[in-house]
Amino acid sequence: MAASPSTPGAATAGVSASASHLGADPSIVRRLSQVRNIILVLSGKGGVGKSSVSAQLALSLSSTPITDDDGPTTGPSSSSSPSSSSPTPSSTPRTPRVGILDIDLTGPSIPRMLGLDGQTVKQSSDGWVPVYTDASQSLAVMSVGFLLRSKNDSVVWRGPKKNAMIKQFLGDVRWGPLDYLVIDTPPGTSDEHISILEYLRTFQPSAVMVTTPQAVSLADNLRSLDFTRKTNLPLLGLIENMSGYVCPHCEECTNVWGKGGGEALAQRERIHFLGRIPIDPGLVRVLDDAKEEAQAKVQTQNGSDASAAAEIINQPLDAHETAATSSAPASAAAAAPAPASAPVPASAAAAAPSASAAASSTGQHDDSATPAGTILSRTTIQRYRDSQTFPIFQKITDQIRDLARQHRNSSAAGQ
Ligand SMILES: Nc1ncnc2c1ncn2[C@@H]1O[C@H](COP(=O)(O)OP(=O)(O)OP(=O)(O)O)[C@@H](O)[C@H]1O
Ligand SMILES: [Mg+2]
Repeated sequence: MAASPSTPGAATAGVSASASHLGADPSIVRRLSQVRNIILVLSGKGGVGKSSVSAQLALSLSSTPITDDDGPTTGPSSSSSPSSSSPTPSSTPRTPRVGILDIDLTGPSIPRMLGLDGQTVKQSSDGWVPVYTDASQSLAVMSVGFLLRSKNDSVVWRGPKKNAMIKQFLGDVRWGPLDYLVIDTPPGTSDEHISILEYLRTFQPSAVMVTTPQAVSLADNLRSLDFTRKTNLPLLGLIENMSGYVCPHCEECTNVWGKGGGEALAQRERIHFLGRIPIDPGLVRVLDDAKEEAQAKVQTQNGSDASAAAEIINQPLDAHETAATSSAPASAAAAAPAPASAPVPASAAAAAPSASAAASSTGQHDDSATPAGTILSRTTIQRYRDSQTFPIFQKITDQIRDLARQHRNSSAAGQ
């Protein structure tokens, strides 16, 4: 069913769902017509912080209230239940709804960075239910990492299977109305980039590029820049990540990998420079040790042993959520839901039965099912807010929000 303008959130992403998606896949049109802004995070080089930036951007966007000028015209208000919709636009600030899609199929790191390792995707009558970071459902997460039996499983896919998986992430996931969908991509310009841009062609996506100050990263990003130009993907701006280390004792900044290369590249190529993020050991702890830290915290609080701590972490926050997440992550991992045609990787094939098998083993969800937030992800979010990087990234997020709105408005004007 293609979304009509009367569908909640239909007039989103700067497009009219009925007229502007000719040739697009109907299942994707149905889902993404409810998404207001789609932002890809790109870099020509690996390991420069694309996933960290994606995670931070999603967390920062979801933690700053917006008005409906910035959000779905018919989306939920912060005072109402997350699954309800308000029929009229409102200028009252509300919590934005954000999705993060990890299309790094061979190296998914978003689940770990958000403290969601071991969580699984559930099946509902309306498609896959993404994993939510907390009970308010303001941040929805989807990654192939949730479909693997073990986080150490390798994923070996050829191009067509990757293409099919990405299509499912866009068309089969019950994203609901979103203000922002942040897409974390693999390094370079790969099959995944080509697929996602093809599927998003009519949805006016934009991109943010990440570099580190080293010459090699800057050179690799020139190739990515060329890719965005050839594919007409608007670039909102460039972030220089891991830009110097500020000593916490003397506050002197050591430019470990040089400084200013990103800004110079941005100036030369006439790209907006979004800002610099220093090397922050606190951020590494948040992103890399999320689960372990949360486990330790719960263990300390409860004075119990490690297994008891893990049990508490995996419990839903309250009874309301218990009904919706009856399967514990450990057992659900052996039953990762997948629609019948799901292109599962070799290593995950045994762990991903058909939709009906998954439904019978995990309990099929009705459309109002509310996946649990966990103590673990709440801890991650709090620790991220406490990090040195958070205020810096807030400024970057403010710019991205404004630029995305300008892009959306100019796309709508050009329709
Ligand atoms: N500003 C920062 N300060 C300190 N550590 C950082 C910073 N940004 C990223 N990192 C760390 O650097 C490592 C690589 O970051 P990340 O995984 O985000 O890069 P990536 O570009 O997504 O990598 P890949 O190309 O493999 O997907 C991670 O361990 C991350 O925690
Ligand atoms: Mg990554």
